[in-house]
Amino acid sequence: MSEGLSDRDKAARLPEGDVVAILLEQHARIKELFTTVSSTQGDARKDAFDELRALLAVHETAEEMILRPVAADTAGKAEADARNEEEAEANKVLAALEKMDVTSAEFDAELAHFRQSVLDHAEHEEQEEFPAVRAACTEEQLGKMGRRLRSVEKMAPTHPHPTAAGSPKAQWMTGPFASMVDRAKDALSRG
Ligand SMILES: [Fe+2]
Ligand SMILES: [Fe+2]
Repeated sequence: MSEGLSDRDKAARLPEGDVVAILLEQHARIKELFTTVSSTQGDARKDAFDELRALLAVHETAEEMILRPVAADTAGKAEADARNEEEAEANKVLAALEKMDVTSAEFDAELAHFRQSVLDHAEHEEQEEFPAVRAACTEEQLGKMGRRLRSVEKMAPTHPHPTAAGSPKAQWMTGPFASMVDRAKDALSRG
């Protein structure tokens, strides 16, 4: 039915602020960033990888905390558990990737493998969880989950080199992936 549509096309068909629309937009951006990382060199590659790490920290943490509890009741516990396990595994792979030299052959090989895992994971979410969650929730509930997601998304950087050193966005970009995940969890717990 929706075959052939890009993630952004699918998002555009949903109400503004709907949690699934925001997650689809993030999937689109994640895919673009993987392409940029694999097709650039040097500083451009490092910047794109930093943005990818930050976005994945926000995206996967938000799915775990906002989407998954609802998905467990609608798409089923087995689906929800499988997606949570894939995200936990992705966190480990990212922690290994960020210790590598982005110009090394080792990084290229690991990135290619990681990209495929993330894309397969996203495809499962789009096929199983997103439709089940949208079917089971009211527009109001979907909008409320979307607002929670937007509030944590605001912390994430839109540019890899924030001009104001020491600003919240600059702080967000520094440090290991695990600390980005912790900050995203904190923000979502408060929201
Ligand atoms: Fe996910
Ligand atoms: Fe996702």
